[in-house]
Amino acid sequence: MKYGYFDDQNREYVITQPNTPLPWINYLGCEAYFGLISNTAGGYSFYRDARLRRITRYRYNNAPFDLGGRYIYLRDDTSGEFWSPSWQPTQHKLEQYSCRHGMGYTTIGSKYSGIEACARYFVPLGENLEIWQLTVTNDRPQAAELSIFSSIEFCLWDAQDDSANFQRNFSIGQVEIEDGVIYHKTEYRERRDHFAFFACSEKIAGYDTQRDAFLGPYRGWDNPAAVERGLCSNSVAHGWAPVGSHHVKLSFKPGESRQVIFVLGYQENPRDQKFDPPDSQIINKKTAKTVIAKYLAAGNADAAFEKLRVYWSELLGLCQVDTPDVHTNRMVNIWNAYQCMATFNMSRSASFYESGIGRGLGFRDSNQDLLGFVHMVPGRARERILDLSATQLPTGGAYHQYQPLTKRGNDDVGSGFNDDPHWLIIGVGAYLKETGDWSILDEPVPYDNAPGSERPLYEHLQRSFRYTLERLGPHGLPLIGRADWNDCLNLNCFSDSPGQSFQTTTNKDGKVAESVFIAGLFVLAGCELADIARHRGLAAEACSYLAEVAKMEATIRQHGWDGEWFVRAYDDFGRKVGSKENAEGKIFIETQGFCTLAGVGLEDGLAVRALESTRQLLATKHGIVLQQPAYSKYYIELGEISSYPPGYKENAGIFCHNNPWVIIGETRVGNGDAAHDFYTRINPSAREEISDVHRCEPYVYSQMIAGRDAPTHGEAKNSWLTGTAAWNYYAITQWILGIRTSYDGLLIAPVIPKSWRGFKATRKFRGVTYSIEVQRAGDGNQVSLEVNGAPIPGNLVPLPPPGNKTVAVKATLR
Ligand code: GLC
Ligand code: GLC
Repeated sequence: MKYGYFDDQNREYVITQPNTPLPWINYLGCEAYFGLISNTAGGYSFYRDARLRRITRYRYNNAPFDLGGRYIYLRDDTSGEFWSPSWQPTQHKLEQYSCRHGMGYTTIGSKYSGIEACARYFVPLGENLEIWQLTVTNDRPQAAELSIFSSIEFCLWDAQDDSANFQRNFSIGQVEIEDGVIYHKTEYRERRDHFAFFACSEKIAGYDTQRDAFLGPYRGWDNPAAVERGLCSNSVAHGWAPVGSHHVKLSFKPGESRQVIFVLGYQENPRDQKFDPPDSQIINKKTAKTVIAKYLAAGNADAAFEKLRVYWSELLGLCQVDTPDVHTNRMVNIWNAYQCMATFNMSRSASFYESGIGRGLGFRDSNQDLLGFVHMVPGRARERILDLSATQLPTGGAYHQYQPLTKRGNDDVGSGFNDDPHWLIIGVGAYLKETGDWSILDEPVPYDNAPGSERPLYEHLQRSFRYTLERLGPHGLPLIGRADWNDCLNLNCFSDSPGQSFQTTTNKDGKVAESVFIAGLFVLAGCELADIARHRGLAAEACSYLAEVAKMEATIRQHGWDGEWFVRAYDDFGRKVGSKENAEGKIFIETQGFCTLAGVGLEDGLAVRALESTRQLLATKHGIVLQQPAYSKYYIELGEISSYPPGYKENAGIFCHNNPWVIIGETRVGNGDAAHDFYTRINPSAREEISDVHRCEPYVYSQMIAGRDAPTHGEAKNSWLTGTAAWNYYAITQWILGIRTSYDGLLIAPVIPKSWRGFKATRKFRGVTYSIEVQRAGDGNQVSLEVNGAPIPGNLVPLPPPGNKTVAVKATLR
C-alpha cells in the first residue's frame, strides 16, 4: 500500500493522505538555520545546534506522535467553523490534501469547504529564517470572510533545559511586539545576544504570545480558544509559555486568491549593540527589520525560492545517472544525495527519532558521512575534516562526539571507541580523491583543541594509524575499547546496574577483547594511508604501512577466520564472538562486509566464501540482518547488543548502514547481480509499494528495518539520520556503477547486473564534466575504455589538460 507517489520531474515526493503510518518528514535549511517539518506541518526549528539554540518547542514521543509545529488555522468568519489546512492539529476531513516534500522545501495544500489553502515552507539560502508562503483561494461561488491564524510555540533556547527546568523557566519568558512582529527574547536581557522574530505580511487584527491565552485553559492545539472565538486577546507573555500567533482577517471575492507570508527567524546582535536605545532593555531591531521587510515581499520570497531550486539543481547535477532501474535513478539522482546533505548537516542529532539534545556530531559518523557528501560541497567537507581532527587526542584516539556550536569534544561521552581514529583516514581519503586538494594535509590542526598543539593534518592520520598498533590484543588483533562500529558490542562493559550507559561504562581495563572488524578497517585505512604517503613522496613510509596491513591480514586469516566466515571479535575471556562455537550470534555481518570490502581474502577465496555464508545465513527479503541467531537473553559479557529484543537494532535487526559493505564486497568479487539485489532490498523507493509494512518515509533510508526474528519483520525505524545514506550512495555510484574517484583521476569499474544492457551517467569531477556511457558486450566486468573517441589501456580516465571542461567516456564491459 502507498500513501503517495514520486514526482521525479519536480524532485518531490507527493503524499496524498495525511495519516501516514508515521510522520513523513523533510528538512528545511542546509547551512545554519534548520527546520524539521512533517507532512502535517509538525516539527521545529533551530539555529546550528538543535540542543543549544532551539527556536521552537517540540515535545517528542507525544500523543499523537507528531504534535506541535508550524500550524495555520483558517476560520470561516460567517459560520465560525475553523480547520487546519495541514490536517493536524484539528484533523478535519479535508476534501483534498497533498504534501509535497522537495529539495529544501515542503508545500502542504488542501481544500475544505470550498477554500483552498497551500503553504510553502522553506529557508532562503544564506538567511537565518524560514518563510511560510500561504496562498488562500476562495473557490466558492460567493464571497468569503476568513480569519487566518498562525501559530508557533517558542522554545527557551536550550532544548534540554527547556524540557526539564520548569521552576525557573515558567518565570523567564519574555517577548516584545512591535509593528505586528512578535519578538521572542527570553534571556536576552542578560547573557544572550540572540532573539527570534515572527512576522506577517498582512496588517494584523490581533496577536497572542501567551500560550494559555491563545489556547485557553484545558485546551490543546486542536481547539484554540482564540481561533474558536475568532479573536486573539493581544496577550503579552510574562513567563509561562511564550508563543506566536498572528490573526489576519481577509475578505475574498468568488475565485479570489491571496497570499499571506509569515517569516520566522533568528537574529544576533553585536554585544555592544543589543539594545535600542542603548540604555534601555528593548531589543535593537535594526538588522532584523531589514531582513523581515525583504522577505515579507512576495517577489523577494519567490526569488529566494527560485534560488533554492537552482542551488539544488546544480548540486544534484554533479552526478546524474540513467540506468535501467527507476529506483536506482531516483535515489542516486535525487533522494539519496539529498539525504546525504541532511546527514552531513545533522550527523545523528535532530530527526523525529533523535531528539536534538542527545548527541553531538559523531566522530565516526561524520567522517563516514563525507563519503556521500564530499562531491557536493567540498569546501564544507574540508572544514568538517579540520573540525573533526581538531578534537582528536594526542594519543591518536578521538572524542566520540563533538558539539557543533562549540566544536569541542564531548566530555560526557569521552573517547575509547577504538575504531574512531581510522574513520578520519577514510574521510580524508575521500576528500583527497574527490578534490585533489593535497594542501589540506599541511593544515595545522591542534589536538583536543589545545592551542599550541597544532600539527599538520597528515600527522593526525599517522597517529590514527599508530593508535591501533599500540593497542593490539593477545591474538595480535586490535583491542576493541568501549566498542567499535557496533556501539552495542560492549565487551569491556559488564553492566549489571539499570541506567548505566552501555557505551560509557567500562568495568574492565580492556586488554583482552579484540575486534576483527577494526582489523578489517585497519586494512582499508592502512592501504588508504599508504596511497596518501606515496603521493606525498614518502615511499618508504608507504611501504611500512603496507607491511603492517599485510601482517594484519595474516592475523585475520589466522585468528579471524572461522572456517566459513569471518569471526566478529574475541570477548574479555578470549572467547570467539560470531563463530560456530557460539550458541547464538554465530555469524555477524560487519566482518563479512568490511573484510571483503577491504579486500581481505580476495585471492584465496575467503571473501567469496564469507559472502556465500552471508547470503545463506543473514539475507532476508527486507535486507541483511546484523547477526544470527539473535540473542535470546542478556549476555553481560557482550553488552547492549543482547539487551535488544531479537530482531531489533543491533540484535539481528537489518541495520541498513552495514548492508552496503556487503554490497561493495559483492562487487569486489565481481558479483553485480548480488550487489544490486542487496541494494534493492533496502532501497526505500523500491519498498514504496509496501509502505504499510515499511512505515517510514519511502524516499529516505532508515537506520533499521526489523529483522526476521522480530514480530514486525520489514518495519523500518529511525529514518533520515543514518550512515546508510552515505554508504549506499557510495556503494551504488562508486562500486556498482563503478564511477570511482581515485587519487589520480576517475576510475570506471562497473559491476552491474548481467541483465543490464548498460547505463549512462554524467559526473562532474575536479571541475570537469564526464559524460559516461557504459555498454555491455559480454557477461563480465572487464572494461575497455574510449576517452574522447580514442581507446586507452586500463580503466583510469586520465585528468584532461587544463582548460578542457568536458570528457566523453565510453566503457564496454565484457
Ligand atoms: C548508530 C551510530 C553509529 C554506529 C551504529 C552501530 O548508527 O550512530 O555510530 O556505528 O549505530 O551501532
Ligand atoms: C544506542 C543505539 C545505537 C547507537 C548508540 C549511539 O546504543 O542502540 O544504535 O549507535 O546508541 O549512542
